[in-house]
Amino acid sequence: MCGIVGYIGREQVSPILLDGLTRLEYRGYDSAGLAVFHPEKGLQVVKARGRLQALWDATQQGQAVPGTMGVGHTRWATHGAPNDINSHPQVSQSGKIAVVHNGIIENYVKLKEFLEAKGVVFASETDTEVVAQLLEYYYHGDLLDAVSKVLHRIEGAYALGIVCADEPEQFVAVRKDSPLIVGHGVGFNMIASDVTALISYTREVSYLNDGEVAVLTRDSIQVYDSLMRPVTKEVVHIDWEISAAEKGGYEHFMFKEIMEQPKAIQATISPRIQNGQIVLDELNITQEQLQQLDRIYVIACGSSYHVGMAAKYILERLLRIPVEVALASEFRYSEPIVTERTLAVVISQSGETIDTLAAMREAKRLGARILSIVNVVGSTIARESDDVLYTWAGPEIAVATTKAYSTQLAVVYLLALDFAKKLGKLNEQEYETLVAELEQLPEKAQMILDHTEEIQYFASIYFNHNSIFFIGRNIDYAVGLEGSLKLKEISYIHSEAYAAGELKHGTISLIEDGTLVVALAGWNTLFEKLMSNVKEVKARGADVIGVATQTHAQKLSTQVDSALVIPDVHPMFLPSLEVIPMQLFAYYVALMRGCDIDKPRNLAKSVTVE
Ligand code: AGP
Repeated sequence: MCGIVGYIGREQVSPILLDGLTRLEYRGYDSAGLAVFHPEKGLQVVKARGRLQALWDATQQGQAVPGTMGVGHTRWATHGAPNDINSHPQVSQSGKIAVVHNGIIENYVKLKEFLEAKGVVFASETDTEVVAQLLEYYYHGDLLDAVSKVLHRIEGAYALGIVCADEPEQFVAVRKDSPLIVGHGVGFNMIASDVTALISYTREVSYLNDGEVAVLTRDSIQVYDSLMRPVTKEVVHIDWEISAAEKGGYEHFMFKEIMEQPKAIQATISPRIQNGQIVLDELNITQEQLQQLDRIYVIACGSSYHVGMAAKYILERLLRIPVEVALASEFRYSEPIVTERTLAVVISQSGETIDTLAAMREAKRLGARILSIVNVVGSTIARESDDVLYTWAGPEIAVATTKAYSTQLAVVYLLALDFAKKLGKLNEQEYETLVAELEQLPEKAQMILDHTEEIQYFASIYFNHNSIFFIGRNIDYAVGLEGSLKLKEISYIHSEAYAAGELKHGTISLIEDGTLVVALAGWNTLFEKLMSNVKEVKARGADVIGVATQTHAQKLSTQVDSALVIPDVHPMFLPSLEVIPMQLFAYYVALMRGCDIDKPRNLAKSVTVE
């Protein structure tokens, strides 16, 4: 959601900014812009609505906007329509200060009134323009001083890149509740919303903390805390391969990432299983703290929340501790019952989702211990947690998550088995069997991915449906939620996921001739019950795609219109296998409908506004 890139150095900056913004495209946006300083031309601002290609074209691939210092932005509209006036950079009245911003300035109306009363004329509908105008109001020849004054007046979430035509030897970056990273180069320095925009130029980065301000020149980066005291930042080396954030011959990132799942699951579990034993060195939680836990909250949004739904079945079954799964955006407002004996398991691919971060901080404030499952190393959620278990999925670029979901599940299995062992809830034999099954998951996932033709064929039959239902019981229901979300996100087909037994309490009224129902029947002991639900919808005219394990392959094919069979697996690990046909089905349906799969409409990869 919105992307920022900034550069100061010796190279022509515009192509670097455009390249960085292109690498941030996946975050989601609807317009883009640049502000570049040139000694003769001053501060040049170019903006373009729509895809980034429009900005590449408007600047003649960056060549038409010379200069060696500047900032760029991709905007996901919040305040004001996505047009050239509302796009960033936003400039001050005189045109000498330009600002790019991620987040929301919550008190912008009050500040706007204040400035208008002083005669400032606003050009846009954005909250961001207030920052540019306020900076000019406080600017008396010292940009850092003006920034410090503005920070005392603005409220909300922000990552800011600020350039001033009167101080072209430096630019300023600020961060509060919105991600921003500083990249250390030789003869240049950079900022970006995330590392994907930086790794072609530098792998040495520092993560800004909330309230910190960075002043970047060609040869130095000085960071200050919120009281403007200099701070020394740790420099972290990023070892992600650039190719991991490129399509590598695939038509879409989503398909590439679906195919990468066996490797990603392997990378997440292998280093943590030694001689058949799970070793989670990263955890700081003591045996005593573990024994005292009387409640677990899983807090997350979207697909990460769906992992949480599956985690509830797994953790409760193994640990016999009550688990509540909370939508992060609701958690804070639900007066949650949290004590020192509560563990909050916070799940997030990006580690920057603002709803999740806010809920996590609330859980912490109320006394919970925070254990996060995060993919992006060094992200805010990871840094603020008591314990972090990283998923080793590598960069996930497609908006619709696939490999991050799968690796989150893998971490949940590791965690559940490790805790169950430590709490004496599993005997040695049960533990060994489950660990061995876990180790087989990448291979079984690969077996499904080796035969995508069938799913592609089903997609070709059903891609024209306008309404699709997913049903399942127990952990299958959690997978149904994810299957439905994947389909909605990228194919724009209306879809609902229901606990199969719940359908007849209302939703079954929507089933009519030709309605497609995807029935997830992997949980072997509930197979017959699920088949009864299949009969109910078929009796009302539904077409049914059924998913079950090899054990029930034969029976399944007699009950449904289209059968998808997955390898036999312990029910605890079902989501990892069942979700793959769901992802592929959504992918092929979206492909056949001509949708923009990697950049679905209205969506952002990392949701950094509440
Ligand atoms: C998944 O396909 C979605 N794009 C979305 O629901 C996502 O899972 C959610 O926004 C949470 O993101 P996070 O894992 O980065 O916190």
